[in-house]
Amino acid sequence: MGGVATLWPFISQMNPDASTIAAGAPIEVDLTPVAEGQDIKVFWRGKPIYVSHRTKKQIEEARAVNVASLPDPQSDEARVKAGHEQWLVVIGICTHLGCIPIAHEGNYDGFFCPCHGSQYDSSGRIRQGPAPANLPVPPYQFVSDTKIQIG
Ligand code: FES
Repeated sequence: MGGVATLWPFISQMNPDASTIAAGAPIEVDLTPVAEGQDIKVFWRGKPIYVSHRTKKQIEEARAVNVASLPDPQSDEARVKAGHEQWLVVIGICTHLGCIPIAHEGNYDGFFCPCHGSQYDSSGRIRQGPAPANLPVPPYQFVSDTKIQIG
């Protein structure tokens, strides 16, 4: 348990306007303020999205796992964009009953859901607890090396 307490600056996405975003418009997220080892939370379609700037250690841990042993087998490579492996983008809603997991908590240097104890790793994959599936990866793309578009 334990881990590093992380401040998650809320990035306000006001272009286009909030009502358009709520209806599902794509949002752009500037990655430059997100230091290695930090996460930010943004909102897309009313859902919290975690954007994690992973450390080398987190990436190595995520890739050292025997994928077949996972409850919801998926490689780390399949959950991030090639050439941008340091960035993890996931929908921050626990796949058990919908609580919002906490980043940098739990046994796997990933996310911990305090509601019933689900633990996700640094790839957002479920590793322990009642959640049946990995944190979903929303549709997104890199529009430059420092900016993504979600949606
Ligand atoms: S809602 Fe996350 S463990 Fe139950």
